[in-house]
Amino acid sequence: MTEPAFPRVRPRRLRSTPALRRATAEARLHPAQLTLPLFVGEGLTAPKPISSMPGVVQHSLDSLRAEIARAAEAGIGGVMLFGIPEHKDAEGSGATDPDGILNIATRLAVVEAGDALVVQTDLCLDEFTDHGHCGVLDADGRVDNDASLERYRDMAVAQAEAGSQMLGLSAMMDGQVAAARDALDVAGRSDVALLAYTAKYASAFYGPFREAVQSSLQGDRRTYQLDPANRREGLRETLLDVEEGADIVMVKPAMSYLDVLADTAAASPVPVWAYQVSGEYAMIEAAAANGWIDRERAILESLVGLRRAGAEGLLTYWAIEVAGWLRGRP
Ligand code: PBG
Repeated sequence: MTEPAFPRVRPRRLRSTPALRRATAEARLHPAQLTLPLFVGEGLTAPKPISSMPGVVQHSLDSLRAEIARAAEAGIGGVMLFGIPEHKDAEGSGATDPDGILNIATRLAVVEAGDALVVQTDLCLDEFTDHGHCGVLDADGRVDNDASLERYRDMAVAQAEAGSQMLGLSAMMDGQVAAARDALDVAGRSDVALLAYTAKYASAFYGPFREAVQSSLQGDRRTYQLDPANRREGLRETLLDVEEGADIVMVKPAMSYLDVLADTAAASPVPVWAYQVSGEYAMIEAAAANGWIDRERAILESLVGLRRAGAEGLLTYWAIEVAGWLRGRP
């Protein structure tokens, strides 16, 4: 018997070949976990580029149809639709109009997607209001929570009627999940699922999105979205939304909120998703375009990091491209 060599514990052993690394990976990405956000612009006859999000466009109805076919072909889990109306007003009327751009796009998407994708819709007034807030305003110009809930009840039913299978509740109004659930149940649409953006922070990383939806927002959303300093409050919002009937809860943005994601994953009895937002996309694209980082590796690392922190589903603007990379790499 010879004395064992030092060191006896060698974690590097499992890192020594690609096959060992692959077989021992703790977190994995699969196309079905990815949801692609899509923008649809009213009145467009051709896709319109979004300068701060290279590779992402506002779709016309025709190009939306083609993109949904690509998404289905890529085997991703679903699409999340955002509509950009030609005319905005104080109440965001386009949001509840059955012929509003988002509802039209949803009807088309549902047909094109068939059984292949979960068609989801952003349930928020901000794309539709001329003041750009995620709710209606009171006489003093403040976002009126309970009056906004009335709008969200109607918007939930309008989206369900258009065929949306899952509503992305992103306004951060108190009671929004319960209000939408109640309105849907009353309308006989208890089949429609609610994806609650429960821990949604007032973030600078939504910057490019504001261009994408031609937002008219002046000021910020700090009276309703969470303060980036708050971790416990993120968990509180999650627990509230679960109680109110959320089918899935989501943390947003993703990369700067991995602690909130991990807390949520540990505490939530329902699936937990994360939204890799426009600014996160733009940062990696910009750095890669300058040759400062390896684009594919950075994208995959950014996504597997979210899986490792506890996200089961991921919203990412790279969903189709990443699904292509993952093919043949289970
Ligand atoms: C609200 C909404 C926003 C995003 C998704 N839903 C914007 C906001 O809260 O200001 C941001 C998504 C992104 O930045 O990619 N409709």
